[in-house]
Amino acid sequence: MGSKAPIHILLVSYPAQGHINPLLRLAKCLAAKGSSVIFTTTKKAGKDMQTGCNITDKTVTPIGDGSLTFNFFDDGFKEDDPIRTNLSDYTPQLEHVGKKHVSKIIKNYADLKTPISCIINNIFIPWVCDVATEHKIPFAILWSESSAVFTAYYNYFHKLARFPSKPEPYIDVQLCSLLLKHNEIPDLLHPFNNYPFLGTLILEQIKNLSKALCVLVDTYEELEHDFIDYISNKSVVIRPIGPLFNNPKIKCASNIRGDFVKSDDCNIIEWLNSKPLSSVVYISFGTIVSLPQEQVNEIAYGLLNSKQVSFLWVLKVKTPPNEIVLPDGFLEETNGRGKVVKWGPQVEVLAHPSLACFITHCGWNSSMEAIALGVPVLTFPAWGDQVTNAKFLVDVFGVGIRLGYSRAENKLVSRDEVKKCLLEVMAGEKAEELKKNAIKWKKAAEAAVAVGGSSDWHLNAFIEDIKKRDP
Ligand code: UDX
Repeated sequence: MGSKAPIHILLVSYPAQGHINPLLRLAKCLAAKGSSVIFTTTKKAGKDMQTGCNITDKTVTPIGDGSLTFNFFDDGFKEDDPIRTNLSDYTPQLEHVGKKHVSKIIKNYADLKTPISCIINNIFIPWVCDVATEHKIPFAILWSESSAVFTAYYNYFHKLARFPSKPEPYIDVQLCSLLLKHNEIPDLLHPFNNYPFLGTLILEQIKNLSKALCVLVDTYEELEHDFIDYISNKSVVIRPIGPLFNNPKIKCASNIRGDFVKSDDCNIIEWLNSKPLSSVVYISFGTIVSLPQEQVNEIAYGLLNSKQVSFLWVLKVKTPPNEIVLPDGFLEETNGRGKVVKWGPQVEVLAHPSLACFITHCGWNSSMEAIALGVPVLTFPAWGDQVTNAKFLVDVFGVGIRLGYSRAENKLVSRDEVKKCLLEVMAGEKAEELKKNAIKWKKAAEAAVAVGGSSDWHLNAFIEDIKKRDP
């Protein structure tokens, strides 16, 4: 292949919002740096993504020096089939059709004499690595959770630390220099977790590492160097390339977004513009977690009782009989201080100068967005890596106050607790300390993705690695 010809990189995503977002961001970075990127996921996810913007199947969109092409495949289920939410039934079928589809793309590109040079996939679809190996194509994994969480899975898989077990469910776990309580490890590694199937899928991915070119992580060196060093010393090539959402390279393709839900309110930014500096609390629990009605009520009254606090709340309103409703007269009582929406442009919201803090479920995308935009947080994790991220946001990165614990503990956080934490995070000595730390991480994140920064360097090194292996 001539040195000027673009390399073709195939990205395969599990069809869920929290997985598509970071992989799509990576796709845009790679394209902006001159690669021809093919992004594939299911037709259903492709259709959902089209609600956020104008994504079209098989159209080549130029981005920077390269291009991005979507290529969607049919997962074999009707559009409204509820099986997609039952992961242990859905995932084997996804593997069955996905393997055939990925092989077909590889063959098509080879026939056109533009062979795929590398395949990148995210978690929950470890079979993509088998397809790559079968076709002798180098592959890499995008790990869209933290390096600390990656280390926990790595140590568990290789039995490098003691983890809770059925006979000893409450032991602490040593993770580098940090001691995590049993309820602070990624809960899919806990013997009593509710989703053992997902834990197995992630461990399958860890098994693939010995054959991978590298693992790309949506984090940055300055934030997690202890864990990055630790993993590097285990002879895994780990490349911190984040925060992906804040990479200046993706700004040229900001119209390509993967939002599954369209914002129901076009005036969110205008509303934020009308608020004083650092005065608004943003509340969102990501794309999967939904709180029980009683907890929604406690948060609502906590907000009301904290009198002067303004808030923007992304609330998933489910359909009956599981409908979530706000207490009667709630919005009227807030007197214009509050706005409740179904979806919002989260990155733009967090970057807005009127933002004071973020009540978050601590999904890694939300955590990274808050850290890199310098926004202090109140942590309210539900499950999975969120419980570990919450521990880090509070005790390691120093940007948060713990509001709630894992949902598995089934404790309701009272309105008084909500009010107390809100007032603490908004003003006073603790608030200043959190803001100072948040600004420090924001500056470090900007430096990491700038030209010559640590994440930019790792992304360039990754592309060079692929080129070196190109036949
Ligand atoms: C899932 C898991 O729950 C999480 O633990 C894991 O780390 C990643 O996969 P999810 O629950 O969707 O993620 O949360 P999160 O990782 O925070 O991702 C949510 C994404 O949706 C963020 O990028 C956020 O910016 C975006 N979002 C959310 C919006 O753009 N608008 C909204 O209104 C809400």
